Amino acid sequence: MSNCTIDEDVRPRKLSEFIGQEELRANLSVFIEAACTRERAMDHTLFYGNPGLGKTTLAQIMASELGVNMVSTSGPVMERSGDLAAILTNLGRHDILFVDEIHRMPATVEEILYPAMEDYKIDLIIGQGPGARTVKIDLEPFTLVGATTRLGLLTSPLRDRFGCVFRLDFYKPEELTEIVKRAAKILNLSIDEEGARAIGLRSRGTPRIAGRLLRRVRDFAVVDNQCTISRELAEHALDKLDVDHLGLDQMDKKILSVLIDQFSGGPVGVKTLAVACSEEVRTIEDIYEPFLIQCGFLKRTSRGRVATPKAYQHMKKKFIDNGLI
Ligand SMILES: Nc1ncnc2c1ncn2[C@@H]1O[C@H](COP(=O)(O)OP(=O)(O)OP(=O)(O)O)[C@@H](O)[C@H]1O
Ligand SMILES: [Mg+2]
Repeated sequence: MSNCTIDEDVRPRKLSEFIGQEELRANLSVFIEAACTRERAMDHTLFYGNPGLGKTTLAQIMASELGVNMVSTSGPVMERSGDLAAILTNLGRHDILFVDEIHRMPATVEEILYPAMEDYKIDLIIGQGPGARTVKIDLEPFTLVGATTRLGLLTSPLRDRFGCVFRLDFYKPEELTEIVKRAAKILNLSIDEEGARAIGLRSRGTPRIAGRLLRRVRDFAVVDNQCTISRELAEHALDKLDVDHLGLDQMDKKILSVLIDQFSGGPVGVKTLAVACSEEVRTIEDIYEPFLIQCGFLKRTSRGRVATPKAYQHMKKKFIDNGLI
């Protein structure tokens, strides 16, 4: 079975199955109910937050709760305005168009979206040169659901056209424990409370990572011939996987040690840091940094990235105060 199908299996389908993000869930359920009662397309909705926190899941839940079809695409896939126009004209009444990584949509494509979002209309240019003409095409009322890991990279005209904007936060350990228990049940694995908690605690506040660690711990359970995943087993497996008690993995630790050992704790620009870690700038910025900042190990300053005294302590290095923090 591919990872993708496994992921699909554990994905919550209803809002009531979605764990955590209490405030977001409460508000979203009001908006969904209102749209159903008024028999109108729901307002355009934007989800933003770090990778693996549930943006795609929430878009699918919206479609299922609203009882509409969802068409999925992503910002970088749409190269020309015609690509988006073709999708928009094929949407049914009240359907959802889900655009992942919406911040990576080319500007020419984005312009088509403005009238589509505002008036359910698009302006298509037919032909070229002096003979070119514009035709207005009416669309069915639809809901655009955008997802992005980088709200700051969205242009303001686009951001302003979303009626509902939701931020997803890192999950609390108790919520991740529940997420692990739920996923274990679906995957037919036996796990006790403490085992689930051990995995939850090391999941960097992220459900996707919780799911991934659960599957790796399961492999250890199978090989060790254990029928229930206990705390001991989970911790043993996670130690072997080089995931420490805070959830930091090899790459996190590499970033911190490069910062401390090669750049005396910083400040260092993210590009230099990325080269020194042999990683892409975007991966560092989107995946690693947010959690390191959340843990209080790293700071973004105007002059670059800086390791905090807490990072030195965690990496068991002696902190030398150079007056930068
Ligand atoms: N609140 C939740 N409860 C249970 N499982 C969740 C929850 N949120 C996310 N998941 C699980 O975590 C995984 C990742 O979620 P999802 O794909 O929705 O993240 P995403 O925010 O779209 O990530 P990306 O930015 O990488 O696209 C899925 O397998 C989903 O089942
Ligand atoms: Mg997604």
